Amino acid sequence: MLVRLLFLSSVLLICVGSANAGKTSGFTRNEWPSIDIPLDNEVFAVPKGYNAPQQVHITQGDYDGKAVIISWVTPDEPGSNKVQYGLSEGKYDFTAEGTVQNYTFYDYKSGYIHQCLVDGLQYDTKYYYEIGNGDSSRKFWFQTPPKIDPEASYKFGIIGDLGQTYNSLSTLEHSMQTGTQAILFVGDLSYADRYENHDVGVRWDSWGRFVERSAAYQPWIWSAGNHEIEYFPQMREVIPFRNYLHRYPTPYPASESSSPLWYAVRRASAHIIVLSSYSPFVKYTPQWKWLRQELKKVDRQKTPWLIVLMHAPIYNSNEAHFFEGESMRVVYESWFCQYKVDVIFAGHVHAYERSYRISSLRQNGSSYPVPDKSAPVYITVGDGGNQEGLAKKFRDPQPDYSAFREASYGHSTLEVKNKTHAIYHWNRNDDGKRVQTDTFVLHNQYWGNSRRRRKLKKKVLDYAIANL
Ligand SMILES: *[C@@H]1O[C@H](CO)[C@@H](O)[C@H](O)[C@H]1NC(C)=O
Ligand SMILES: *[C@@H]1O[C@H](CO)[C@@H](O)[C@H](O)[C@H]1NC(C)=O
Ligand SMILES: *[C@@H]1O[C@H](CO)[C@@H](O)[C@H](O)[C@H]1NC(C)=O
Ligand SMILES: [Fe+2]
Repeated sequence: MLVRLLFLSSVLLICVGSANAGKTSGFTRNEWPSIDIPLDNEVFAVPKGYNAPQQVHITQGDYDGKAVIISWVTPDEPGSNKVQYGLSEGKYDFTAEGTVQNYTFYDYKSGYIHQCLVDGLQYDTKYYYEIGNGDSSRKFWFQTPPKIDPEASYKFGIIGDLGQTYNSLSTLEHSMQTGTQAILFVGDLSYADRYENHDVGVRWDSWGRFVERSAAYQPWIWSAGNHEIEYFPQMREVIPFRNYLHRYPTPYPASESSSPLWYAVRRASAHIIVLSSYSPFVKYTPQWKWLRQELKKVDRQKTPWLIVLMHAPIYNSNEAHFFEGESMRVVYESWFCQYKVDVIFAGHVHAYERSYRISSLRQNGSSYPVPDKSAPVYITVGDGGNQEGLAKKFRDPQPDYSAFREASYGHSTLEVKNKTHAIYHWNRNDDGKRVQTDTFVLHNQYWGNSRRRRKLKKKVLDYAIANL
């Protein structure tokens, strides 16, 4: 009896553990030209009025979601650093005061970049805010997340490698239709580094105006990609990430990080860890030490969902950038499995791909992934639509670890329902329409199926033993 039960349950486990054949979608469409939208297009319009605030964006300002950092640029003079805010439109009971800075990049001079921490907010509340003065002032709003709670539902959007083309605009508009509450951005923002000299700064500014339509109203959780490095000795600009770091603050001190390039936030029922593919990460580096500590802080009783963001994917089967994430895999993969990360989102490869739960941990240090129930799902969404175009060439045949792949533009949503279930969609941009293409239910790695299965199995076995 016991033997038969053990046999049956191992058959069950094998079925669950082994990967189904993956799918390579042959979908093709008339791609819009991968060119940046001209600067005089209305999507980059400068708001009316003298010194009017522009490039407004918000990000989480603390560890648990009771603060936002509001950032904006004034073009003509420093102006006010104040944010007025409150619970109803036009009636502001509170004021916060921020800081202002400016910088040069080659022969470009930035506007006045304001950053203002608005903290002590209530959870799950809509706030209205206003910045700027008189006729040039501008109004926005945002919604704070629910308090940290294992059963809290929350809808994230995931976007990568966005740029500022017509395809980028389509991705941005589609993500605004899906009712996301915060965006997890997996790196490569403006692609301004494809320009020269003065125009680099100009295209950072246009990108800031471009994403404002979303980023002024919901927090974008930033991670840096290779296009943020901007190491330009020919322009005597050799300090990495200068434009990015001046413009896109992150709440890194709240997670005791020493760098804005890697940090963590908790939001609703999720613990989100942001890593930097382009900062030292090997053993004993600050990023490695920080991640080791941060993973110990993860409390799945409070935040069941553990999500990691990085730019260069660890598992991906596109010819573009193949194996570029391998060095980070070698250092961190065992932690990702040990701490049962639910999902890892990356960008970099300009196509969409999703893996099964796989790892190379039992492969003597070489990368040959096999099914591993403790491993994360790896998802690449570098398909935001930048001017470099799509990465159309996948490796053939499709490797066993790859569940679904398609070389077209789009973005994803992850709708956390409760502590066990999240609904995931990849939304393809289909000639301007949004089409839900790759959909699955993500079962929580800590609270989900396998734990229930283990409990169930133990019950069945206890029963069998009791009845021997
Ligand atoms: C910043 O702005 C001030 C005031 O307009 C100006 O004098 C200064 O040169 C600027 N600094 C940089 C680094 O551009
Ligand atoms: C790993 O190496 C050991 C010792 O050389 C060998 O016995 C084992 O079969 C290898 N395992 C794999 C999965 O290659
Ligand atoms: C969690 O959400 C899933 C999907 O919506 C649902 O089927 C399940 O019943 C929920 N679990 C609980 C305990 O409510
Ligand atoms: Fe990239």
